[in-house]
Amino acid sequence: MGHLCNSVQVIAMVIGTLALASSGSAAPADDDAAKGLAILRKNCARCHALELTGASPHPQAPPFRDVVERYPVEDLEESLAEGILSGHPDMPEFTFEADEINAIVTYLNSLKAKENAK
Ligand code: HEC
Repeated sequence: MGHLCNSVQVIAMVIGTLALASSGSAAPADDDAAKGLAILRKNCARCHALELTGASPHPQAPPFRDVVERYPVEDLEESLAEGILSGHPDMPEFTFEADEINAIVTYLNSLKAKENAK
């Protein structure tokens, strides 16, 4: 009985791993946007509101839905790549890898599209 339970667990683990691997390699735009949002959640959410609603936790930090209205997303992309984000009190300087930037930009573009569609 114990053996049977163990092998069922192993099979479930293998299936789980395969599912992860295949979702990682396909990376359609929705996945990228979700990944971008996850990166922003981790690095920016303690100060900025990231989505269409909600106030920024840091009173001076503009919600990203306002940032994407104010700046072309390409400008933000450049700032992220160079590790320069002007006027960031209390904040460490960020540098991101190309694939992370791509994900962030995909998310910001989708946010901008939703903001414009309102
Ligand atoms: C510790 C708090 C904090 C964190 C973390 C933080 N920010 Fe900010 N951010 C601010 C504040 C405060 C401002 C407003 C600065 C001002 O207007 O002087 C700001 C402004 C900005 C602006 C607008 C700059 C401008 O010139 O108007 C952008 C873009 C931005 N942040 C992006 C990010 C991104 C991307 C991250 C995560 C990678 C991030 N921020 C993380 C506090 C933070």
